[in-house]
Amino acid sequence: MDNKKNPWLMLSFFFICLSLNNHHSLGADTISANQSLSGDQTIISNGGNFELGFFTPGNSSRSNYYIGMWYKKVSLRTIVWVANRETPVSDRSSSVLRISDGNLVLFNESQIPIWSTNLSSTSSGPLEAVLLDDGNLVLRDGPDNSSKRLWQSFDHPTDTWLPGGKMGNNNRNKQNMHIISWKNSEDPAPGPFALELQQYFSNYIILWNLSVPYWNSGSWNGKIFNQVPEMRLNYIYNFSYVSNENEAYFTYSLYDPSIISRFVMGISGQIQQLSWLENTKQWNLFWSQPRTQCEVYAFCGPFGICNLQSLHFCNCLKGFQPTLDNSWNLSDFSAGCARKTSLQCGNDSLADGKRDMFWEMTNMKLPDHPQPKAVGNSSECESTCLNNCYCTAYAYDDSCLIWIGDLLDLEQLDSRGRTLYLRLAASELPSFRNGKAINAGVVLGSVAGMAVLVGLIAFVIFRRRKGSIGTEKVVDGLLVAFVYRDLQNATKNFSEKLGGGGFGSVFKGTLPDSTAIAVKKLESISQGEKQFRAEVSTIGTIQHVNLVRLRGFCSEGTKKLLVYDYMPNGSLDSHLFQEKNSGVLDWKARYQIALGTARGLVYLHEKCRDCIIHCDIKPENILLDAELCPKVADFGLAKLIGREFSRVLTTMRGTRGYLAPEWISGVAITAKADVYSYGMMLFEFVSGRRNSEQSADEKTRFFPILAASLIIQGGDVLSLLDPRLEGNADVEEVTRICRLACWCIQDDETHRPPMGQVVQILEGVLDVNLAPVPRSLQVYVDNQDHIIFFTESSSSQSSQARSTNSNSSSQSKSSVSSTSSKS
Ligand SMILES: *[C@@H]1O[C@H](CO)[C@@H](O)[C@H](O)[C@H]1NC(C)=O
Ligand SMILES: *[C@@H]1O[C@H](CO)[C@@H](O)[C@H](O)[C@H]1NC(C)=O
Ligand SMILES: *[C@@H]1O[C@H](CO)[C@@H](O)[C@H](O)[C@H]1NC(C)=O
Ligand SMILES: *[C@@H]1O[C@H](CO)[C@@H](O)[C@H](O)[C@H]1NC(C)=O
Ligand SMILES: *[C@@H]1O[C@H](CO)[C@@H](O)[C@H](O)[C@H]1NC(C)=O
Ligand SMILES: *[C@@H]1O[C@H](CO)[C@@H](O)[C@H](O)[C@H]1NC(C)=O
Ligand SMILES: *[C@@H]1O[C@H](CO)[C@@H](O)[C@H](O)[C@H]1NC(C)=O
Ligand SMILES: *[C@@H]1O[C@H](CO)[C@@H](O)[C@H](O)[C@H]1NC(C)=O
Ligand SMILES: *[C@@H]1O[C@H](CO)[C@@H](O)[C@H](O)[C@H]1NC(C)=O
Ligand SMILES: *[C@@H]1O[C@H](CO)[C@@H](O)[C@H](O)[C@H]1NC(C)=O
Repeated sequence: MDNKKNPWLMLSFFFICLSLNNHHSLGADTISANQSLSGDQTIISNGGNFELGFFTPGNSSRSNYYIGMWYKKVSLRTIVWVANRETPVSDRSSSVLRISDGNLVLFNESQIPIWSTNLSSTSSGPLEAVLLDDGNLVLRDGPDNSSKRLWQSFDHPTDTWLPGGKMGNNNRNKQNMHIISWKNSEDPAPGPFALELQQYFSNYIILWNLSVPYWNSGSWNGKIFNQVPEMRLNYIYNFSYVSNENEAYFTYSLYDPSIISRFVMGISGQIQQLSWLENTKQWNLFWSQPRTQCEVYAFCGPFGICNLQSLHFCNCLKGFQPTLDNSWNLSDFSAGCARKTSLQCGNDSLADGKRDMFWEMTNMKLPDHPQPKAVGNSSECESTCLNNCYCTAYAYDDSCLIWIGDLLDLEQLDSRGRTLYLRLAASELPSFRNGKAINAGVVLGSVAGMAVLVGLIAFVIFRRRKGSIGTEKVVDGLLVAFVYRDLQNATKNFSEKLGGGGFGSVFKGTLPDSTAIAVKKLESISQGEKQFRAEVSTIGTIQHVNLVRLRGFCSEGTKKLLVYDYMPNGSLDSHLFQEKNSGVLDWKARYQIALGTARGLVYLHEKCRDCIIHCDIKPENILLDAELCPKVADFGLAKLIGREFSRVLTTMRGTRGYLAPEWISGVAITAKADVYSYGMMLFEFVSGRRNSEQSADEKTRFFPILAASLIIQGGDVLSLLDPRLEGNADVEEVTRICRLACWCIQDDETHRPPMGQVVQILEGVLDVNLAPVPRSLQVYVDNQDHIIFFTESSSSQSSQARSTNSNSSSQSKSSVSSTSSKS
């Protein structure tokens, strides 16, 4: 269950990392007419961004050499372009790349041309090939920039679309450009997945085998692609569309040219945007589509089955084994699976009882290309299939469907889904009665499944022993390790829900000594037991008057719970946004809550042993004790939840309005992300309304912008104030909070003050001057249509892209909870 829908994990597959050889440079960016490139010689672009030469891909032990281009400044060797992607050479010292007969040509060991720029017209001037600093290899007819470009690698990309490159169609020769995935991390030959522009609707599609579309960007509306609303939050790529009689294409530039970023058709069948993070020396995946691995058409190949819960997503159906063991090991599942025992259909030498049988598979997304049969009941459907030697499966709900030949694009779902009957030779089935297999479910040779089983058994044994003791035990001198059953009792079987969120619901409980507690049932935990306990005990050591105290935890198998002090006044949102005028938080209380919250965050950011970034600051996570003293809740979850955290966070309802732009734009998250969220919340202290609340009045603008502009223009700050306060507030404090909030939500995180300064400003120790209106907010205003921060994630839309798979992506959250309650 660890890697459910996890794009971050998949990342490792896409790194095309190569051993760093010491290449000898030709000392220039050019191969001129009388030069050649061979052996370990390379050319390096003028500004030192890109390098071109022979390379061997991945960890391949075979000596397969290709001419390729990679980033000179990125320490993890990352190939962005390959010339001879289908025809490697085995000896690079006797192979040469040189200008020949008006072309750039690669000659193999026998001096036979194996790759060429393939230009037919010969040009007058002395040709040269120059590697430009944007990663474009250009063949031109003279030594300077004004020379005619005869050919350029930007027109012939492999799997990567670089900034400045084009992706589109040529109207003259009716050729569509594609970026096509590598076959696997060790073979740059074209794989099954390709991105293509459809000119008519100016939309992109991803195609399998250049024929079956399985993802659609939706058409371009001048700013975004319709099915990719999250593009509005993209502060990295500046896309533009160019269409004329000769060509139609998109190109993009980087708003910040110092970022190294690329657009890749990955071997996972997902299109991805990645940025290089120099401090962690990793490529950070900040956008990819389709969102989940199993939405990629036929990812597991014929007779393979995709399962989001499974370690590498793909398994073979029962009675099948990988066709190519080696490529499966490289995460290339496209060859699919082959039968272990061939079908016995038509073998007259066999007695009836030994013929083919059917294996029942429940909760399936059915394979592609079914053939409907007009028969009345399930046993007739079965015999229709049995009577056709090419029939491989059938399904019967109200009507009969059979499949002829390969089964493609199967997916194991957690619930819902249909039942498929897979045809197998009788000898493949463990037991059969009346000629019919009765085992339900799919037996997959998945290690994960075994692990769960072992865990379950261990858990049962553990519970038995535990049952006799039946008490809590103390860990680390600080935290209590609770037994699940005790928490079940304390919370009256989780009956009184205090709140919920993407990471789990919170329930009220009472311990035997009548202490009130709040119990959080965690979902989506991807940490192992040891790591979980380590993180929990770290959180347990963090204590501050403005932080909610963790009392203990429970970790039994998949059940992970955290036990906190109960806060009688609930969360801030219930006070700040309540309808009634009575009991409204007065200004003084609001100011003190803002200050206390800031102090809690300073402690997390600066005073703990390791800086803790909260990542989810919002009124729901600020709890109030009996004296309305604020306590920050839910800190430390990011590390506790692990890999799933950012995915859940960025798609969680009610959180997006507080998320800093870097969550979506792909740069590293720092404590300044909390400052941003805190700033967003400060505006809500003033207005008493959610920033995200859309007023019926179309003209009403987004409150943070309204406030920021009004402050800059020197307007009356009290006009911004929550009307329920009836003007009862300290003008200076309101001004200070508004100015501070504007600084906190600056796009550039270096412009945001650290929490320590926030506290000093609120204490009145530091002054705060005017901040510019953040550009990202300005963009929302300019867009007029909607304030994008508050549209829900596009996951529902990505599933529309494929009607056959409409229920797979939207159910992920419920499936997490159902799995954990099962065990
Ligand atoms: C290659 O040609 C250029 C210009 O034609 C000349 O300057 C250079 O000396 C030549 N190099 C060699 C190695 O012949
Ligand atoms: C190459 O091998 C190393 C170490 O075994 C591994 O960490 C890395 O992921 C491999 N790279 C590829 C592209 O398979
Ligand atoms: C060079 O390429 C030709 C044509 O593809 C091929 O027949 C020949 O075997 C290759 N030479 C070597 C040494 O691989
Ligand atoms: C060049 O043309 C040959 C024959 O027409 C073709 O096989 C080859 O794939 C072409 N090479 C490139 C790089 O387009
Ligand atoms: C060609 O253009 C590059 C960058 O655009 C510039 O650095 C270089 O000086 C130019 N060379 C000539 C000969 O104009
Ligand atoms: C891929 O497409 C080609 C050409 O359309 C077709 O001949 C081939 O059978 C397809 N491959 C598969 C696995 O369907
Ligand atoms: C985005 O790209 C377009 C077209 O290249 C350009 O005119 C515009 O200035 C760019 N915008 C920014 C903010 O860089
Ligand atoms: C593939 O991986 C499995 C398990 O890691 C290993 O047993 C098998 O030998 C590998 N096969 C190949 C062809 O590398
Ligand atoms: C028919 O069944 C017999 C007995 O199992 C087996 O030896 C033979 O190979 C089968 N023939 C075919 C065509 O499957
Ligand atoms: C299915 O339909 C056939 C023909 O209509 C009938 O003979 C058979 O009894 C039916 N089987 C069941 C299980 O209803």
